[in-house]
Amino acid sequence: MSSDTLLDVKDLKTHFFTERGKVTAIDGVSFQINKGEIVGVVGESGCGKSVTSQSVLRLFDEKHLVKYEGEILFEGETDLLKLSKKKMQMIRGNDISMIFQDPLSSLNPVLTIGFQIAEAIMLHQDVTKKEAYERAVEMLKLTGIPSPEKRVNDYPHNLSGGMRQRVMIAMTLACQPKLLIADEPTTALDVTIQAQILDLISGLNQKLEMGVMFITHDLGVVAELCHRVVVMYLGQIVEEASVESLFESPLHPYTKGLIKSIPQMEGDRSQKLHVIEGTVPSLDSIPIGCRFAPRCPFADSVCLEKAPDLTETSSNQKVRCWHFEKIAQEEECYANVSS
Ligand SMILES: Nc1ncnc2c1ncn2[C@@H]1O[C@H](COP(=O)(O)OP(=O)(O)OP(=O)(O)O)[C@@H](O)[C@H]1O
Ligand SMILES: [Mg+2]
Repeated sequence: MSSDTLLDVKDLKTHFFTERGKVTAIDGVSFQINKGEIVGVVGESGCGKSVTSQSVLRLFDEKHLVKYEGEILFEGETDLLKLSKKKMQMIRGNDISMIFQDPLSSLNPVLTIGFQIAEAIMLHQDVTKKEAYERAVEMLKLTGIPSPEKRVNDYPHNLSGGMRQRVMIAMTLACQPKLLIADEPTTALDVTIQAQILDLISGLNQKLEMGVMFITHDLGVVAELCHRVVVMYLGQIVEEASVESLFESPLHPYTKGLIKSIPQMEGDRSQKLHVIEGTVPSLDSIPIGCRFAPRCPFADSVCLEKAPDLTETSSNQKVRCWHFEKIAQEEECYANVSS
């Protein structure tokens, strides 16, 4: 681990105790986020992106609902899974902040927007009340909110959903966390605003060396914003690569499927969008072998019987597939023949 490592998740398992018994939603996930690095986390609905990020902040009810295993090292030494509730609370919103998909639940309905942002700023930085308010206006402006000087006096219910989301983002970024966890933060926003928010995140990432864990369904956003990408499938990482390698030479059949399903702006629009066949199995019926095998066009009997490990390739990519080398060779042959 280098001294630049901000977050080091090691063999994380998240088990939920449900009415139907124990389910393991996250099963042995390991990844790192360095200072100043934006790591994208992608995968279909139900793959465990949100549970992974919420486990990092320990947001589930540890008395009744959840058991964690593994280690989550923050800045090299602190294992977040071992911290007391109180210490964990200090880290949340201070060193590590999260932007959720649904902002309403995180804003206080009886306090003005300006007060909430200013309060968050004063909690983390040594500034006067006046400076904090000015900062709040500045942050609102940066997130593209019109007439921010007036908006600071509004209450959350005066704002539209998209505006509230921007307020949440302003509040989170105003605190200048070392690590930002963003779970589909721009899905509900229109494209212009989305672009502004992504610029804002990217700017703070460069200026403050803020590390970012960016969860999204949108591979276009990943290509634009992220440095490295983690691909999840059914509670595990199936591929990890730099953003360039992921798009140039995806190794896992699942990643290939995800990339093929990006709508193309150019070319034959009448061509049917590629969609990966089938659906993500439920946590009660996890396949014995490779978890993706029942949906994989390359699967054989080995895949159905034995689960592959995540292995590192010579080009620093990680992949969890028995046949990735063979598939790459076959594709190369095919490309040579057809060119
Ligand atoms: N509180 C919970 N109790 C039991 N199971 C849960 C709980 N929260 C999530 N799960 C299960 O964990 C798995 C991963 O869910 P998660 O919300 O992380 O998916 P996701 O990748 O974020 O999907 P989406 O793209 O739809 O947001 C799912 O099978 C989900 O049903
Ligand atoms: Mg989610």
